[in-house]
Amino acid sequence: MRVLVTAGPTREALDPVRYLTNRSSGKMGYAMAAAFAEAGHRVLLVSGPTVLDVPDGVDFLPIETAEEMFEAVKRHIGRMDAAVFAAAVADYRPAAVSEHKIKKSGETLTLELVKTPDILGSVRGDFGFTGTLVGFAAETQDLATNARIKLQKKGCDLVIANDVSKPGIGFDSDRNEVLLVFPEHTEALPEDEKHHLAPRLVREIERLAAERAGS
Ligand code: C5P
Repeated sequence: MRVLVTAGPTREALDPVRYLTNRSSGKMGYAMAAAFAEAGHRVLLVSGPTVLDVPDGVDFLPIETAEEMFEAVKRHIGRMDAAVFAAAVADYRPAAVSEHKIKKSGETLTLELVKTPDILGSVRGDFGFTGTLVGFAAETQDLATNARIKLQKKGCDLVIANDVSKPGIGFDSDRNEVLLVFPEHTEALPEDEKHHLAPRLVREIERLAAERAGS
């Protein structure tokens, strides 16, 4: 298969020296990209800034902002059989990027933020993607319910949900504990290394892609 994987955080500039971002390390998405490549698939990894090495045998497209990730996905998704959205995309960006460094002045500073494009939410409708679609959901409460809402709203075949409030798993950790939310059922996987979980998740996605191709 040809597979697109998004990974890492995005970075939304405020001025020439500052930006808004989040705690995503990119580890889960990179582990997925590596596992797909090891299973013999052709992978395009669209990634925000991380400190990780690009996995062997993976095509790499680095981006910084949510808008750049949106454009990259829009350009490439038409050729893909499956797409896995593991990036932690900023939901809002500063309304304006100051040309010069913002100076310290008053006691408070108010930032105006505007919504970024919903990339995963654009895939089925706007981009007309008919392949296998997998989202991730990072939640701090009501994991299964929120993941199922995401699955339905975004037209996913699978949402891989993890509770980012649990210590030792999720953001910036080498370990994760995920809940697989399918249209018809839910399956909890035991906590494991992201590098062990990824091949398991790849097998699920291969199965979903085969089902889609057969139907
Ligand atoms: O941030 P949230 O939990 O809603 O993300 C759910 C899924 O949507 C993830 O797979 C994430 O990569 C994707 N996403 C996206 N574009 C956004 C926000 C989230 O593709 N602007």
